[in-house]
Amino acid sequence: MGLTGLFLISFLVVHVGINSLIYANDNGETFNAGAHFMAHNPLIRVMEIVLFAGLILHAVQAIILTMENKKARPVAYAMTNGAANSSWYSRSMALLGILLLLFLIVHLGNFWLPTKQALIADEEHNTFENLKAVFSQWYFVLIYLIGVFALCYHLLHGFQSAFQSLGLNHKKYTPTIKKIGIWFSIIVCLLFASMPVTMFLGIIK
Ligand code: HEM
Repeated sequence: MGLTGLFLISFLVVHVGINSLIYANDNGETFNAGAHFMAHNPLIRVMEIVLFAGLILHAVQAIILTMENKKARPVAYAMTNGAANSSWYSRSMALLGILLLLFLIVHLGNFWLPTKQALIADEEHNTFENLKAVFSQWYFVLIYLIGVFALCYHLLHGFQSAFQSLGLNHKKYTPTIKKIGIWFSIIVCLLFASMPVTMFLGIIK
């Protein structure tokens, strides 16, 4: 889980980076150039397959891990004083993961599918105009904010636990990794969350 998690984190860095090109605020010219490069670069196309395989593997590993944990302790604790033993998001990784999965289905339908359909039909596609159209509807803005919120909590726990799963649990380095994880989660999610909001408000045109 640690390896697939870190791979998905590296995808998020590229994704939030390309998306931030909307802040050039030049009617999507810079952003569309980035999106066009991503859609047509053969190496990125191969990475796309690896990405989807990584996403599925990460979810399957989570299900197996949860089942193994249950098997290791078939009788549930009579008293689970959760808050005293673990943080809310470490106990809620499964719920947040499912919420993220639902968000991803909507998200891929909004953006990935129209791009692919245009590619197959050999038609021009303006991803920026598609962004504007999606984020002109308040309910999509709401869905994206909920999705990004789930991502933030998922990452807050997931970032440092990826290193822990890989065996990196060190008195000296773990506190620093935890701090980097918190800042990373907040910055990436604030950037993602700002996109539907600024487009809905017409700040990005
Ligand atoms: C709220 C801000 C977000 C915006 C504006 C956004 C925008 C986009 C766009 C435009 C694409 C289509 C790229 C194409 O033309 O093929 C895309 C693809 C994708 N996005 Fe997002 N995204 C956001 C957040 C997220 C988040 C939070 C995640 C993950 C948790 C995510 C995961 C993906 C995935 C897996 C793809 C498919 C990548 C591929 O083409 O291989 N996105 N996104």
